[in-house]
Amino acid sequence: METTFDMFIETEVPEDELIVSRTDFSGKITYVNETFAEISGYRPEELIGKPHNVIRHPDMPKSAFADMWATLKRGEVWEGYVKNLRKDKGYYWVYARMSTVIKDGKPVEYKSVREPASREKKIEMQNLYDKMRAEEEGQIRIVLYVDNDKLDAAAALEKA
Ligand SMILES: Cc1cc2nc3c(=O)[nH]c(=O)nc-3n(C[C@H](O)[C@H](O)[C@H](O)COP(=O)(O)O)c2cc1C
Repeated sequence: METTFDMFIETEVPEDELIVSRTDFSGKITYVNETFAEISGYRPEELIGKPHNVIRHPDMPKSAFADMWATLKRGEVWEGYVKNLRKDKGYYWVYARMSTVIKDGKPVEYKSVREPASREKKIEMQNLYDKMRAEEEGQIRIVLYVDNDKLDAAAALEKA
């Protein structure tokens, strides 16, 4: 058995900006705001027209999205923690709220607005999703948390 080791960098989501996207009913992206593009590492035009799973992270369990779609199709709002994949294979965590856009009384699109997640929640959700993936898909990966704040503090001390 061969053991491999990979490291991926976390991008911190800013506190004061919302990450917004909209999709058609099949989940194809119709709009992203500048912050969404920046955080995911894409240019907006690379994302428009693509299925939203372009930023799906392999750490996300299938059942989370099954629940999300079932909730949206009932016309309800889904809220939850999502780990997303950047273009450069790094990742970022968000707390997402997904809902149906209604115009003139009719559903026209889906939209999602996201905000940052706390450090504690990211660790808790990583552990939960690892467990869910192991149960659902027999997929076992060991994910270690690297504290960006501590890395930055160490780098600053080294410079001083
Ligand atoms: C409005 C909206 C926003 C979505 N945002 C994300 C997202 O940020 N990250 C993600 O992985 N999936 C998101 N999805 C779900 C994807 O469409 C897709 O179901 C998911 O990535 C799982 O991929 P799969 O359906 O191919 O298994 C979103 C869906 C909708 C309708």
